Amino acid sequence: MLKVLFIASEAYPFAKTGGLADVVGALPKSFGKDVDVRVMIPNYGSIPNLLEKNIHYHHHFYVQMDGKDYYCGILTGEHEGVKYYFIDNEYFFRRPELYGYYDDGERFTFFSRAALESLSSLGFEPDILHCHDWETAAVPYLLKHQYRTAFPKLKTVFTIHNMKYQGIYGFDDINQFLHLGFLPNDMEFYGKLNLMKGALYASDLVTTVSPTYAHELKDPYYGEGLDGVIRSIGAKEIGILNGIDGSVYNSATDSALFVPFSEPNGNKAANKKDLQEYLNLPVRPDVPMIAMVNRLIEQKGLDLVANVIHEILQLDIQFVVLGTGDANYENLLNSVAYNYPDKMVTRIEFDDPLSRRIYAASDLFLMPSKFEPCGLSQMIAMRYGSVPIVRETGGLKDTVSQFDPNTGIGNGFTFLNYNAHDMLFTIQNAVNIYHNDRGLFEKITDNAFNSRFNWENSAQVYLTHYRNLKEAEYHELYT
Ligand code: GLC
Repeated sequence: MLKVLFIASEAYPFAKTGGLADVVGALPKSFGKDVDVRVMIPNYGSIPNLLEKNIHYHHHFYVQMDGKDYYCGILTGEHEGVKYYFIDNEYFFRRPELYGYYDDGERFTFFSRAALESLSSLGFEPDILHCHDWETAAVPYLLKHQYRTAFPKLKTVFTIHNMKYQGIYGFDDINQFLHLGFLPNDMEFYGKLNLMKGALYASDLVTTVSPTYAHELKDPYYGEGLDGVIRSIGAKEIGILNGIDGSVYNSATDSALFVPFSEPNGNKAANKKDLQEYLNLPVRPDVPMIAMVNRLIEQKGLDLVANVIHEILQLDIQFVVLGTGDANYENLLNSVAYNYPDKMVTRIEFDDPLSRRIYAASDLFLMPSKFEPCGLSQMIAMRYGSVPIVRETGGLKDTVSQFDPNTGIGNGFTFLNYNAHDMLFTIQNAVNIYHNDRGLFEKITDNAFNSRFNWENSAQVYLTHYRNLKEAEYHELYT
């Protein structure tokens, strides 16, 4: 049987700050019975009630780094049919947050080395290590350069969920954990050490989370300084679109909704009315509600929104924003909402049930990202019958297509350039259709609602690559 170990810094429901956790939590469930996919993450202080979730001590050993012995416990347990391993070291991981510490580089190089060293005693011998994002980027590098004799056949897949975060540190800051001796060319980045760069060269296969982003990463605008590396690894880098978990996001069964529904047109109205009451907005069935549910950061296109927010609010709409992020965007949105109490509500918080109510109540979902490796919110929005307005980039381009009234095809509204007025025109167009041709708007809503992005499809693509890699006699099959 094919055996795969996911190594990541987040997995829903144990630890989540972003979409990475959703992917690592959902994808392993989607492979079916002939693959054994397990997951390894750190045992953070914030992981709740370990014992209640039936997670227990497995064994422990010591990782030698910098002439010292570091304790490494392995806890294990099962969640929704998937076996999990938790790397336990209280000094590194018993902290209130997942990231944001001065020694994050050390914490995750420890995690990466501990993951490799645990392999001989897990009782599970994977064929493939599937690593995610910079926090685990040292794994393929160390395997190739320091552990190859112990695991001659083991192959590695590295997935880029976001090229913006690469794990860049001074050589001396983390070399005591990497034991490199000198700064190697394949990690060197403007005089510093770049963990992501090392993984791009050392992995047998590099994937990212949408075909368009895979292509965009070759371009300096998106490549964050590693576009040249991406171009040089050629066919070893591919894009596989993420999905969403249909059992978690289902408007017909979602108990968070005011009124669950299996058909959007007609039924969303009740959700809109309840949400308007809940948020103290005027209760009006005839006004299009535009929602934003996302981290309020530059990546998500907040600059564009900030630029034309007053023009947007001249339209006959309601605008609901939920999320946390950069203080300057939070403050701006709050103060604008204060000035338009009948039109705009801002909720600066992370509230999962409220997010679902907003998806279900809103007519339009705004996501004008500057770049977007995949994006999950637009897929969730569609699943709840909220029509996306997106910029044509990354996974947004691969999941949303501009509606064409001549063919009746298309599940949303799109614009190409990162330009506030292009976005504004697209919003105006959508709002016009809502006000002037409700039948047409309902058709677009149906198209969005019936779009399907299942994990099973993605899992089949990963599986084909896992099998190719396992059967390959040599490493770097794709170069
Ligand atoms: C990151 C990306 C997002 C992607 C997610 C899961 O959060 O920013 O676009 O959907 O990872 O792959």
